[in-house]
Amino acid sequence: MVKYLGKKKIAIFISGRGSNLKSLIKYFKKKNSSIEITLVISNNPKAKGLKFAKKSEIKNFGLKYISKSSFENKSLKLLKKNDVDLLCLAGFMKILSRNFIKSFSKPILNIHPSILPKYKGVNTHERAIKNNDKITGATVHRVNEKLDSGKIVLQKKVKILKKDNIKSLEKKVLKIEHEIYPKAIVKFLSKI
Ligand code: GRF
Repeated sequence: MVKYLGKKKIAIFISGRGSNLKSLIKYFKKKNSSIEITLVISNNPKAKGLKFAKKSEIKNFGLKYISKSSFENKSLKLLKKNDVDLLCLAGFMKILSRNFIKSFSKPILNIHPSILPKYKGVNTHERAIKNNDKITGATVHRVNEKLDSGKIVLQKKVKILKKDNIKSLEKKVLKIEHEIYPKAIVKFLSKI
């Protein structure tokens, strides 16, 4: 892959399917993009999403998750070696330690399938439907030591219809995630 001078380098952490990774690769592949994805790491060597990195010839590592500290130490080395400016979590299902966040020292973003601060953690769509919510959505936020609690970068809402179920809601919200994550990254990097 040709490296252009002055491009901001981002790394993506995934755990599974990787549809957000796929959409980010597509977006930042554009010829005049000032951002490039230089590294993809999964905590699961069998993560389906790794295939998107392979296909686009982006350096990728499926690390066996023996322990949090071994995964984080290996990842930190790779992030530093590749001179990464920003780490983006995309369907990454592990919680990063305070030590990792401090040692990395560069910003970290995450995409979350709810309108934060509502529904931190997992099963967001199930909780929104159970509570009879009329609106849900997706949020891109900074990662700090508290789960899904960092400063919000971008949010987009979507209506929950009577006919919606967990599956249909997941599909709708995922579409929004794919739309706002690249935009949030561009917005965030233009300010640092
Ligand atoms: C997304 O909904 C993301 O917000 C959540 O997990 C899902 C991962 O999807 N944390 P994918 O792996 O990007 O397809």
